[in-house]
Amino acid sequence: MSDSKFLRLCCISDIPDSGILRVTVPGYDPLAVCQVDGAFFAIADTCSHGMASLSEGDIEDGQIFCPFHGGGFEIATGNPTERPCTIPIATYPVKRVEDALFIASK
Ligand code: FES
Repeated sequence: MSDSKFLRLCCISDIPDSGILRVTVPGYDPLAVCQVDGAFFAIADTCSHGMASLSEGDIEDGQIFCPFHGGGFEIATGNPTERPCTIPIATYPVKRVEDALFIASK
């Protein structure tokens, strides 16, 4: 894909069985690319409660749970679902082209 308005995040096959892949791309803080029931999402990788990497956490029922204190967020919206997290995390639309995922360049 040669569209300079989008940055390549990863191949779908790069996403591990856990459903979460940590990705860095220019212009963004680290991202967690998540697969939930065949849909793909890019969210901030850093928990809003501390400096934990959410990509080291777990996905369950459309939520991602932080590996530090177990706080949770709804992956589709970034809204907190489980304490101690109370501040939403950023979410970004992703675009799928064949077997790869892209995010808008900043
Ligand atoms: S750092 Fe994520 S819940 Fe505390």
